[in-house]
Amino acid sequence: MGEKMKYDGQITGKNIILRTLELADCQEYYINWLNDNETNQYLESRWSKHNINSVKDFVASINDSKHSYIFAIIHNTKHIGNIKIGPIDYLYKFADIGYLIGEKSCWGKGYATEAIGLILEFAFETLKLHRVEAGAYEQNIGSQKALLKNGFIQEGVFRKKNFLKTSNQYCDGYKYSILREEWKEHKKDAK
Ligand SMILES: CC(C)(COP(=O)(O)OP(=O)(O)OC[C@H]1O[C@@H](n2cnc3c(N)ncnc32)[C@H](O)[C@@H]1OP(=O)(O)O)[C@@H](O)C(=O)NCCC(=O)NCCS
Repeated sequence: MGEKMKYDGQITGKNIILRTLELADCQEYYINWLNDNETNQYLESRWSKHNINSVKDFVASINDSKHSYIFAIIHNTKHIGNIKIGPIDYLYKFADIGYLIGEKSCWGKGYATEAIGLILEFAFETLKLHRVEAGAYEQNIGSQKALLKNGFIQEGVFRKKNFLKTSNQYCDGYKYSILREEWKEHKKDAK
């Protein structure tokens, strides 16, 4: 039931654009985001060291996959981060999202909030999903706020499931979700 549709379009917001992440984007600045200990402290990708080839392999595997999409977040023509949706469960019509604003000078400017809003449009309008999920570590306040501002609801706490290298301690993992009806209501309220 269902199959990944080809999507070459771009999703345009007020301050950012999402467009498919390409192999040509796999340059040093992007590798540096992934290898930066502050930027990657809450990302599962922190457990390996990245280089241009490993990142190209990752991007190609997502773009070739039947169940995920990855977008570059563009601000003023500059690639500042990425947002991914997948794996998509075509049977139950839900998917997970994950995101990264790699350019630290772009933190706290609302870009993650906007990127999540745009990926929700894509999830509910284009992919016709029913539910979108996301996870955030208990310390990742920026990520949690960006989800809550988009109408996500915290639905679970995974006690001490994650481990922070930076402080050498276990921490809780929070799980969030938003349903299609909630997203529609949230959009109405935001107008
Ligand atoms: C977490 C992250 C996605 C937030 O992105 P961002 O673009 O800075 O977030 P926004 O600007 O949309 O901020 C959303 C809210 O969180 C707040 N916020 C952002 N970073 C914060 C931080 N480090 N501490 C506390 N609050 C923070 C913002 O002020 C804003 O709140 P407000 O609207 O009440 O003012 C970004 O810092 C990042 O990519 N970090 C590295 C990778 C990562 O952690 N990805 C998410 C994994 S779940």
